Amino acid sequence: MTDLASVDRRAALDGFGALAPQAPDALLGLIALYRDDSRAEKIDLGVGVFRDDAGLTPVMRAVKAAEAILLREQESKSYLGPEGDIGYAELLADVALGRELARSPRIVGVQTPGGTGALRLGAELLRRALPGASIWIGSPTWPNHAPIFQEAGLQARAHRFYDVASAQIDLAAMLEDLEAAAEGDVLLLHGCCHNPTGASLSTEQWQSITDVCAVKGIIPFIDLAYQGLGDGLDEDAWASRALFEALPNALLAYSCDKNFGLYRERVGALWVQSACAEQSEPVRGNMLALARSIWSMPPDHGAAIVRTILERDDLRNDWMAELAEMRNRINMLRQMVAQSHPGLAFIGAQRGMFAMLPIDKNAVTSLRAEQGIYMAGNGRINIAGLSKQNMSNFVAGLAPHL
Ligand SMILES: Cc1ncc(COP(=O)(O)O)c(C=O)c1O
Repeated sequence: MTDLASVDRRAALDGFGALAPQAPDALLGLIALYRDDSRAEKIDLGVGVFRDDAGLTPVMRAVKAAEAILLREQESKSYLGPEGDIGYAELLADVALGRELARSPRIVGVQTPGGTGALRLGAELLRRALPGASIWIGSPTWPNHAPIFQEAGLQARAHRFYDVASAQIDLAAMLEDLEAAAEGDVLLLHGCCHNPTGASLSTEQWQSITDVCAVKGIIPFIDLAYQGLGDGLDEDAWASRALFEALPNALLAYSCDKNFGLYRERVGALWVQSACAEQSEPVRGNMLALARSIWSMPPDHGAAIVRTILERDDLRNDWMAELAEMRNRINMLRQMVAQSHPGLAFIGAQRGMFAMLPIDKNAVTSLRAEQGIYMAGNGRINIAGLSKQNMSNFVAGLAPHL
């Protein structure tokens, strides 16, 4: 007699037989290695979360206060709908886009699960609207960028952006590569605090990129994941706003996970600007239909926290004050690193949580094995993982490799 259970099992195994094994996430592997390292003086510069001087990633004061309010006042956890928390998206639009753009009838926005969800939703929308479009992505970039767009069916194409050896943005190379872009292609840009390089485009460089987009009919898709962690809330959003003002179509993927310290709560938003106000309703309708088929509704708690903070002057002011403390800490550490060695001077002028050290893979491995200094395989360090206490060990360990 046939053993039905074993037939089913075989069929199921064959059914997934075509799947190729996937390499484990390198940064997550680094967390485990760091955890299992017993050296007291080990330094974690790997994972991209803010750390205070004690090496902790605290819950922000305003977040704790907002959670207490929600605990007291929230009366229902019933469904909200695919657009999520409408008040959240409206209040956050002022922070991200500024008051004027936030009220533009050409711009629509919805809550998403984190910045990743915003990027994916934008990618899906682009595939519907412009099925043949390529997305141009600078190198290096956040490793998740290309997979997000490729999984949504867009063709990802790389352009040069940053030269590690000279620690400079190579704008000429970027513009040369973009000559191959077609009308209706999309250009992914980091709005501020570039991950992994920390390199900031100058006003003139942003203008050149805007001009290329205008002349060639390229649509900018801005990833703004670190607003307020570079130079200030308005300063860090300046370039995104300028692109929206200068160009007919634009997208902005936003994350509150770093600047509100809400990482695991998955808080983000996507704004899309169309050429004319008549396109806004179809854009919104398609965003919501896509959201409904992917996550149905975004998770509520983190967005409710952000709304609660932005609704109240006292909490908003305290959030801005603590964000400034975080930013000042990162920028103070940048100055300390920059002054520690001529080969690290470039880090002082960069912004955000990350920098790429001009060292090769062997140096990265030997720093980990011999000094207990952990960083991503490409030499990216999380500046916030440094402190006044570990700075001299970091510089002493690194110096022979520079
Ligand atoms: C450049 C960039 N974009 C987007 C994200 C995604 O952020 P979230 O955790 O909100 O999905 C990150 C997170 O590391 C990032 O570095």
